[in-house]
Amino acid sequence: MSDINTLSAIEVIPSGKALGAEVRGIDFAQPVPDVVRDELVKIWADHLVLLFRGLKLSDDQLLSTAELFGGSQAAKSRDFFLQAGVKPGENDRVAKKPAITIISNVDGQGKAGVASEADRSLSLKWHSDNSYVEVPPTGSLLHAHTVPSKEYGGATSFNNQYLAYENLSDELKAAIEGKNCVHDDHRNTSGILRPTKKKPEKREDITGPTHPLVRIHPVTGKRALYLGRHYEWPSSYIPELDDKESEALLAKLWAAASDDSLMWSHDDWQDGDLLMWDNRCTMHARSPVDHSQARVLHRTLIKGDPVISAWGQPSAAAE
Ligand SMILES: [Fe+2]
Repeated sequence: MSDINTLSAIEVIPSGKALGAEVRGIDFAQPVPDVVRDELVKIWADHLVLLFRGLKLSDDQLLSTAELFGGSQAAKSRDFFLQAGVKPGENDRVAKKPAITIISNVDGQGKAGVASEADRSLSLKWHSDNSYVEVPPTGSLLHAHTVPSKEYGGATSFNNQYLAYENLSDELKAAIEGKNCVHDDHRNTSGILRPTKKKPEKREDITGPTHPLVRIHPVTGKRALYLGRHYEWPSSYIPELDDKESEALLAKLWAAASDDSLMWSHDDWQDGDLLMWDNRCTMHARSPVDHSQARVLHRTLIKGDPVISAWGQPSAAAE
């Protein structure tokens, strides 16, 4: 009789890096008591990205896992495909279940390599999921059904945006105090224009919500840098500054946010892995993938609550 989904079964193995931990003793295909859920929320707050291995979750079980942490929400990218006339179930990016995104390069006969579109094999740039919506998801759950071994690429990397903020010079902290960022919704995380969107030519063409450059995490009370996404000009910008100043300040912030010392990479994906990350205090990126190998992952987003601005309120972090 295996001991699973109990407090005593939980084992946390930190990555040894700036964030990330493997958690053992949990199977989301089985009921998770509230007390265990509450403990996972604490572990998540401590480590920001959690890896669970050896799971086999149906889409409904993936959605009920999201329910444990606040519910699920549909990816905004789905809307862009629907607006372009794609019907649910017709395209792997528009699954029949609204809150599920299927990432697959396998056709109906199980043959790999069908994802010939450029964006499927390019690297994905650093980003926080769906930062380009008004209420971004608090977290994301990514479950590997079939993944190639590490020599074929596809490592998913994360970085710690609490530390990114803490490590800023006093001068940079002062420079961003009270400032915001408009999050570009034109391009996907490979930098490719979304269906129905036109290439922006000037700042006024950029659409997307305005979020504070620093947000407060509702669980930890700590400040995190919140850059979201940024492509070649014109893209996400700081509305309080002119174009040149905005690009110059963002360049400094992105250099700080993507420093190697803040990073952990999950580079040995295995079938059955589930990664759960916090979009409020981390960013992630993916290295290129060789699409001659079958790669199928299912994702859902954990329902967000409004972004809490750091401006006008002290951080609760006593550090
Ligand atoms: Fe993402």
